[in-house]
Amino acid sequence: MGETLADDDTTIAGLVAAADAALATGAASGGSESRREAEALVAAALQIGRATLLAHPERRVSDPQHARVRDWLVRRARGEPLAYLTGVREFWSLTFRVTPDVLVPRPETEDVVARALALGDELQARSGATPAVVDLGTGSGCIALAIAHERPAWRVTATDASPAALRVARGNAHSLELVHVEFVEGRWYAPLAGRRFDLIVSNPPYVAANDTALDDPALRHEPRMALTPEGDGYAALRHIIEDAPHYLRAGGCLVLEHGARQGSDVSRMLETRGFRHVRCAPDLAGHDRVTSAQWPHITAGLP
Ligand SMILES: C[S@@+](CC[C@H](N)C(=O)[O-])C[C@H]1O[C@@H](n2cnc3c(N)ncnc32)[C@H](O)[C@@H]1O
Repeated sequence: MGETLADDDTTIAGLVAAADAALATGAASGGSESRREAEALVAAALQIGRATLLAHPERRVSDPQHARVRDWLVRRARGEPLAYLTGVREFWSLTFRVTPDVLVPRPETEDVVARALALGDELQARSGATPAVVDLGTGSGCIALAIAHERPAWRVTATDASPAALRVARGNAHSLELVHVEFVEGRWYAPLAGRRFDLIVSNPPYVAANDTALDDPALRHEPRMALTPEGDGYAALRHIIEDAPHYLRAGGCLVLEHGARQGSDVSRMLETRGFRHVRCAPDLAGHDRVTSAQWPHITAGLP
C-alpha cells in the first residue's frame, strides 16, 4: 500500500472503504472477508464498537487514528494476524488478550470446549462429583477459561511449556475474573505427577514440519511451537494419548483437537491404547477436527 489510503478517507465510511480495498488486494485477506475485516480493523484502531462504526459512517477521523489504520494495514499486508494488531480476540463470546507469544484462538477450537462441557456434565451426572479438568498447552488460556466460565464450580488446571504464553493466560484469567483456574508450567504431563483428572483436553501442535501451510504469512507470525511438534506432526498427539491413562480417573475422558485429515489416525491411536467410545464428529464445515474418547471403568489405570 502507498502512503495514503484514498482521497475520501477522512470519514469512517471512507476509511473502511479504503481499508477494504487495501485488504482485498493484499496477501493476508481478500474476498468477502475483507469488508468484515476492514470494519473490525478500523473499529479497533478508532477504539469504538462495530455498532458505532456502522451507525456513524460520516464521522471524521483524526490524523493519529488515520495513521494507526495505515500502520495496521501495512502490517496486515505482511501477514500479521489482526488479533496481534488489535491485541484481542473473541472466543466463546469472551474477549481474550493475545500477543505473538500465543496462538490466536480459532473458531474450530470452540468445538473442544463444547465437547468437554457435554462430557463433563455426563460424568458429573453419573458420579455426583465436581469434575477436575486439565487443558494441556493452554496458550492464551482460551479452552480452560471458557470451560471455567461455563462451569465455575469445576476445578480447572491449565499447563503450557511456554512461560510467556502462561503470562498471557494468567492475565486473561484475571481480566475474565476466573482467578480460581490453576496454571502450571511444564511439558505436557510433567508438572502433573501423581494427579488424576476427569477430563483431559488439548489443542496441541499438530502440523507436520514439512507442511507448506507453515509458510502462510499469517502462520509465520505465530509461535512455531504452538503450530508444529516438528516431524510428522503427531508427536504431541501420540504423547498425550499414550500417557493419558496415568492421569485420568476411571471413566474419565480425553478431548483432542487435531488436523482435518488426522481424525482416523487419532481414532486408531486411541483405540490401540485401550480407550472406548472413540468419537470423531465433523464440525460445521464438515471437517473432523475434534476426537473424544473414554478411559474404561474396569481396566482404569492398567496399560
Ligand atoms: C495449538 S496451541 C493451542 C493454544 C490454545 N490451547 C488454543 O487452543 O488456542 C498449542 C500450545 O501448546 C503449547 N506447547 C507446545 N509444546 C508443548 C509441550 N511440549 N508441553 C506443553 N505445552 C506445549 C504451546 O506453547 C501452545 O500454547
